[in-house]
Amino acid sequence: MKLTKYYYLVIAGLLIISCKNNNENDLAINDGETSSIEDKVSVLLSKMTLEEKIGQMNQYNGFWDVTGPVPENGDQAKKYDHLRKGYVGSMLNVRGVKEVMAVQKIAVEETRLGIPLIIGFDVIHGYETLSPIPIAESASWDLEAIKKSAQIAAKEAAAAGINWTFAPMVDISRDARWGRVMEGAGEDTYLGSKIGVARIKGFQGDDLTTPFSIAACAKHFAAYGFAEAGRDYNTADIGTSTLNNVIFPPFKAAKEAGVRTFMNSFNELNGIPATGDKYLQRDILKEKWKFDGFVVSDWGSISEMIAHGYAKDGKHAAELAANAGSDMDMESYLYVEELAGLVNEGKVDIKYIDDAVSRILRVKFELGLFDDAYRYLDEAREKEVIGSQEIHDAALDMAKKSIVLLKNENNILPLKKDGQKIALIGALASDKTSPLGSWRIAAKDSTAVSVLEGLKQYSGNTITYAKGADVSIGKTEFAFEVKINTTDKSEFNQAIKVAKQADVVVMVLGEHGFQSGEGRSRTELGLPGVQQELLEAIYKVNKNIVLVLNNGRPLTINWADDNIPAIVEAWQLGTQTGNAVAQVLYGDYNPSGKLPMTFPRHVGQVPIYYNYKSTGRPTLPGEDVVFWSHYQDEENTPLYTFGHGLSYTTFKYSNLKIENTFSENKTVKISVDLTNTGKRQGKEVVQLYIRDVFASVTRPVKELKGFELVALNPNETKTIELILSEDELGFYDNQGTFVVEDGDFEVFVGGSSQTELADKFKL
Ligand code: BGC
Repeated sequence: MKLTKYYYLVIAGLLIISCKNNNENDLAINDGETSSIEDKVSVLLSKMTLEEKIGQMNQYNGFWDVTGPVPENGDQAKKYDHLRKGYVGSMLNVRGVKEVMAVQKIAVEETRLGIPLIIGFDVIHGYETLSPIPIAESASWDLEAIKKSAQIAAKEAAAAGINWTFAPMVDISRDARWGRVMEGAGEDTYLGSKIGVARIKGFQGDDLTTPFSIAACAKHFAAYGFAEAGRDYNTADIGTSTLNNVIFPPFKAAKEAGVRTFMNSFNELNGIPATGDKYLQRDILKEKWKFDGFVVSDWGSISEMIAHGYAKDGKHAAELAANAGSDMDMESYLYVEELAGLVNEGKVDIKYIDDAVSRILRVKFELGLFDDAYRYLDEAREKEVIGSQEIHDAALDMAKKSIVLLKNENNILPLKKDGQKIALIGALASDKTSPLGSWRIAAKDSTAVSVLEGLKQYSGNTITYAKGADVSIGKTEFAFEVKINTTDKSEFNQAIKVAKQADVVVMVLGEHGFQSGEGRSRTELGLPGVQQELLEAIYKVNKNIVLVLNNGRPLTINWADDNIPAIVEAWQLGTQTGNAVAQVLYGDYNPSGKLPMTFPRHVGQVPIYYNYKSTGRPTLPGEDVVFWSHYQDEENTPLYTFGHGLSYTTFKYSNLKIENTFSENKTVKISVDLTNTGKRQGKEVVQLYIRDVFASVTRPVKELKGFELVALNPNETKTIELILSEDELGFYDNQGTFVVEDGDFEVFVGGSSQTELADKFKL
């Protein structure tokens, strides 16, 4: 039986079906519906030389955009030569139908086997039309909207010939100094897992073969968000419990949601660079979780193992990475140069090569690239889809949902739409590039709607703009450090003059879009440059200020919180920034965002997060003694807690009930009544937290375990039910086993992690 099947496959494998290619030995696996992807993969594998197999494991950057340091051993001529020989399996940063077609044609029509390339790109928060940066989208807590945003991004990117995004980043991080918090879902594992899954489903859709969906990539495996001192690429040193309970779950959820690829990370973890870590890639990901897609290295991370002090040279690095389960080499050139030799010397087992190649081919088959390598390459579709109204509408919808109202005293917001003199101050208010954020390689400069444009469009108010001060100096570019203006205050006076004459001052202050993202760590979390001084100078002449923040990370804004009546967190909201901000400021849209990451009072509190451990000395023991876990010079509490966010209406929580039926059906039902007690329709994120009071491994003082976004009319009440099952009640012990332990649990429900109602139950 087995033999017959094998015979059939070989025969099928030898039949040349596709006539599209001119290459002498065209792909012989395209036998329509008859064989499964697995059969096709093994037929193809059996036809490949060792060099062609290794070629599939090699990924080159395209010829113009670079998203990492250019390696010394690579050049354009070599890349073309390798493409023609079939020594390239994937390219990144090639975009646009014409450009992708040019390389895909070489792969399909000029190589011996005609295996198509998989084209990767960082579609992180949109392609050419940008939605809010991921941390901003996460503030919506709106999983449907986030999924839709990814789906729209996939559609636009796919129209440009891309079939694989390096997203979502599901790294949990508790450190606002780390610039890449902009790219994740914040500090919480539960929320981060849900958001990661929503993004994957959006990117990949239900059918990977449509030319509107793209393969997703869960990155960076693992612990990249725990870089020591928040310095990007730095060492991570994580205990088992944090690894299992905080870092792994969003990756595991991504796998379970069917993500087709993983990317490993730059950092070392417990002394081993992730790229060379067999425990992470083979033992956990491929064996324990049974992931059958492929793992791509991060940019150059295979060769970086030399600098880490883990590999003695490039050859050794390739050996370590291949043996550890890194299936594809992004821009190290080491697999293509060294792997064949390593296999021949017996240092890398051919079974690892076959496994890696099978994984890569599997994903290419799933994307339908073997049926038609040019399926993503349709110039008419490219024209029609990129920048279409549908995409802009979705970006605007997501942008509004991402805004968080941090403070609103005396109902200064929403602003009146007519008859008001508004002073708009801050360089970022008129900036049409910075709001596009950090990962915006395909977006053209100056394509965001600025806040100035937005405010003018949505009202009959008189709006007078004054810059006040520049945030950055000179040209700002993706790959280079932003230079911050720390001295030039020459335009303060003009701004002060404008502010004096205004009824309300709207100040747009914060970080430039390129101040967060990869390689952009900070030690100070305040308003950069002279902006704090500008804020205080304006406050002296007009206290009626609405501060609109632009930033890719939590900031320390204590002074503003003490003095400024209204603060709106507007992150970097992408192409539709100005429209979204205007609709919120004027009350056309009632904000409902909630912070996915804690805002510290002081950078010295970092890492600060709501789900901390109690310690043995959590509170002041009665008198004014020092022997408890605290600071001399700052409170322990944050400025704005995780989950915080206001609305133009108000909500009341009441009637918390616990129905403990765990012994019968392994669930505990929590219900609460939510009433809109204000005068406007609004949405609220009902948040459920638990505490496992004592356990064999200590548990956090609070953990998010459920939430629901609820829309209510004024005076309307809804009963919200949230279910705790074993998944929510259990945790990983230090052997990595998931356990649910008997004992006492506390329950907290409310509109932030400093929740309103509390109760208890026992398991
Ligand atoms: C980043 C990845 C990114 C890759 C490709 C790396 O430097 O860490 O997240 O996907 O470059 O641009």
